[in-house]
Amino acid sequence: MSHPSPSTRPDRLRPLFSSATDLWETPLDLFQELDAEFGFTLDVCALPTNAKCRKFFSPAEDSLKQRWTGTCWMNPPYGRNIGSWVRKAWESSRDGATVVCLLPARTDTKWWHEYVAHASEIRYVRGRLRFGKAVNSAPFPSAVVVFRPWSMRWSTTLSVRPRSLFEGKSSQG
Ligand SMILES: C[S@@+](CC[C@H](N)C(=O)[O-])C[C@H]1O[C@@H](n2cnc3c(N)ncnc32)[C@H](O)[C@@H]1O
Repeated sequence: MSHPSPSTRPDRLRPLFSSATDLWETPLDLFQELDAEFGFTLDVCALPTNAKCRKFFSPAEDSLKQRWTGTCWMNPPYGRNIGSWVRKAWESSRDGATVVCLLPARTDTKWWHEYVAHASEIRYVRGRLRFGKAVNSAPFPSAVVVFRPWSMRWSTTLSVRPRSLFEGKSSQG
């Protein structure tokens, strides 16, 4: 089966495959639910216009060059460099941080096998998320991945379908 090239992708999918992906925000209800559970202190990749925490790193500081501490939220740019973000989340957890990530559930990738597979928790989102102000649901599945500090590590895999997130919004079962 061939995949559509950028030029032949339907309009409704194009923003998710372009650099605009960088700007696609976490669904607010998903963030609020996780924030109530974890109490985030740092959004590790954001702009002033989409930051989810008072403290955040933007491209101006280049988060990948900063030290991540406390309880971190990470919805990274979904481009080719996503593996560097996931590696940084893993490394930061070894350095004492908790990093909760919203990631495309690309279970065949190198970064998934090298880092996500060894996370403390993987919560597979049932249904598809609707990012930011998008009209349509994402064309890929998502997972919330939790890297806890090394000293607290254990492993859990869950299937999650929070009622508040998906009532009337899900495109798939
Ligand atoms: C998918 S958006 C997430 C935005 C927001 N944190 C949220 O959860 O809705 C990814 C963000 O990472 C930012 N970003 C890209 N490269 C970065 C870098 N090197 N350092 C910090 N932030 C970066 C982008 O500007 C974008 O705002």
